[in-house]
Amino acid sequence: MHEPLRVAVIGCGYWGPNLIRNFSTAPGLEVAYACDLDAKRLEDVARKFRVARVTSQLTEVLADPTVHAVAIATPLPTHRHLAEAVLRAGKHLWVEKPLVATVKEAEELAALARERNLRLLVDHTFLYTPAVRKIRELFASGEMGEVMYFDSVRVNLGLFHASDNVLWDLAPHDLSIAQHVLGKLPREVSAFGVRHVEGAPENLAHVSLRYEGNLVAHFHFSWLAPVKVRRMMIGGSRRMVIYDDLEQMEKVKVFDRGVDIRRVQSDVEQRHKALVSYRSGDIWSPHLDGTEALSLAVQDFAASIREGREPLSSAQVGLDVVRVLAAAQSSLEQDGRWCPVSSLRGSTDRAHLPAPSPRMRPSDVRPLPVAP
Ligand SMILES: NC(=O)c1ccc[n+]([C@@H]2O[C@H](COP(=O)([O-])OP(=O)(O)OC[C@H]3O[C@@H](n4cnc5c(N)ncnc54)[C@H](O)[C@@H]3O)[C@@H](O)[C@H]2O)c1
Repeated sequence: MHEPLRVAVIGCGYWGPNLIRNFSTAPGLEVAYACDLDAKRLEDVARKFRVARVTSQLTEVLADPTVHAVAIATPLPTHRHLAEAVLRAGKHLWVEKPLVATVKEAEELAALARERNLRLLVDHTFLYTPAVRKIRELFASGEMGEVMYFDSVRVNLGLFHASDNVLWDLAPHDLSIAQHVLGKLPREVSAFGVRHVEGAPENLAHVSLRYEGNLVAHFHFSWLAPVKVRRMMIGGSRRMVIYDDLEQMEKVKVFDRGVDIRRVQSDVEQRHKALVSYRSGDIWSPHLDGTEALSLAVQDFAASIREGREPLSSAQVGLDVVRVLAAAQSSLEQDGRWCPVSSLRGSTDRAHLPAPSPRMRPSDVRPLPVAP
């Protein structure tokens, strides 16, 4: 029997309580602290979950030698300084997506975790969903053929963030899924975004990615859509997939559809012609287990600490997502110009974000309601 892993959760707003629920119910883990600057939020989590202590003082959490790991679920501009403080205090670290706002900061945090032999998990929750795991498995098996394209829509009537735009809020999901399925990064990115609300960041963005060869991806993100859509289409050269995260029963559908090209000699013109024949075979939906992705992420985090190995959604995964986001942000600021992903490696690309403010109340600056 291991001693329980004691985890502190910093940030008890929208997402933090989901972490507290999963950390407090996972075997072998306990929530040592819930920490937030907002006393009301601390009261709420203390009432709902098994939490040993609540505090507004991060220093109290970091000074406690019985705390093994800290999870950060605060807004993006605060990630960098909180994450660094956690690692310097010798605690394992869970950071919500996206890891940080610049490539340089992501590289520094990944290096710090490595130097101190601490685990760093970036919560790209979708990597742990049974649907994404199945899609990766299908493409890895070769039965889908080569990936030709990703096409995804992730829109809803969402929260307008004060500190980051729709790209940094929603794109980490699709980028991490694409990276996980493909095992590689795009060569270049073009992003086009619009602000429809004065004083607020971009609420709509179209992002295109080009990879080596003919592989392309296109993602559409919006906080200003009348309905919620979470739909990804992945074209394989042999079969195609539709992943609809809002479907209850058949989230993933595999289509045995596509085109076959045959080259034939044309009698009339004495030239080679391409004949396209359409293939329209079965549609099937693989069985997916119903385990909550976040509980699998929590188990992986705990196992990575106990076993001294990298978690699936590692610092490297988080860094790679930030690389593509930074290139996309750069493109967005240049009205969609294609921007290379690799040249941003190690750059000091400036955050488009305001300086972190310890008293920031993101909940005070949300003009629109949450989509149901
Ligand atoms: N993995 C996912 O699917 C997922 C989903 C939603 C949000 N997130 C991520 O979770 C993070 C938080 O998002 P949210 O929507 O919960 O934000 P939120 O604004 O609802 O909550 C943030 C909380 O952090 C607190 N806070 C801010 N600075 C603090 C500090 N210095 N010390 C202690 N508490 C502090 C605020 O008081 C607030 O209660 C973001 O990085 C977001 O991208 C991830």
